[in-house]
Amino acid sequence: MFPVKVGIIGGSGLDNPDIFKSRSEKRVTTIFGDPSDILIEGTLGDVPCVLLARHGRKHNINPTNVNYRANIWALKEIGCTHVIVSAAVGSLLEDFRPGEFVILNNFIDRTTKRFSTFYDGQSKSPKGVTHIPMEPAFCERTRQIVIDAGQSLGLNVHDEGTIVVIEGPRFSTKAESLMYRQWGGHVVGMTTVPEVILAKEAGLCYSAIALITDYDCWKADFSAVNVEKVEETFKENVKKVTDLIIEVVTRIGKDNWDDTIKEKRDTVTKANMMRE
Ligand code: ADE
Repeated sequence: MFPVKVGIIGGSGLDNPDIFKSRSEKRVTTIFGDPSDILIEGTLGDVPCVLLARHGRKHNINPTNVNYRANIWALKEIGCTHVIVSAAVGSLLEDFRPGEFVILNNFIDRTTKRFSTFYDGQSKSPKGVTHIPMEPAFCERTRQIVIDAGQSLGLNVHDEGTIVVIEGPRFSTKAESLMYRQWGGHVVGMTTVPEVILAKEAGLCYSAIALITDYDCWKADFSAVNVEKVEETFKENVKKVTDLIIEVVTRIGKDNWDDTIKEKRDTVTKANMMRE
């Protein structure tokens, strides 16, 4: 059986290494540069895990400047088969309330300044031109585990959600927010793209737990999102996110992933157009 290892990318407020029984720190670099911070290795139950703070442990890297390629490459190189991430998001729907969770299954890309492929034609990069399919964008098998784990913990979990990913670092205007609602977005955030794309190019099982922290700025009877509101809601719910991740990792560790991992890797191979 192929050994699983779970990368955990913590968003704002979720980069607490104390969740690990035993831990060791590793500073690594990659062909795409340095990841956001050190990799913290440890185990949850018996499952090997690697924790990485997306914005750095001091939260000093903004969404545009996160080196998403180095983050995913580093997790792949250290042997991760899965990547579970958390992200704070704003809600675009009345019924998606702050404090609730969305297990994302789709995205709309509004980013403009990010590298979103490993196959960029540079000399050190992997060779070829890769057109990776984006349906499904997220790992469906891992998503189901996150949904089931969330429900078993009694969390308020939405089992589907389309995220509109904006470049940031500014929040959206009201006109943009209203437009994202018309487009069919459920939530809005700043980091899922290109993370999910790169994870797919790397052949990883990737699932994102979005925690709703606010109603963005479209809702008439609510004050517009600000950093204080995001941080406050995240702090109130960080224990739930942590408990959910621990439960998810435990469940992942109980399964045989051989076929799924093979399928993900085959998808990458088939997407590469380079001929020998
Ligand atoms: N992260 C948390 N709330 C957000 C919002 N309203 N827009 C973009 N990113 C967010």
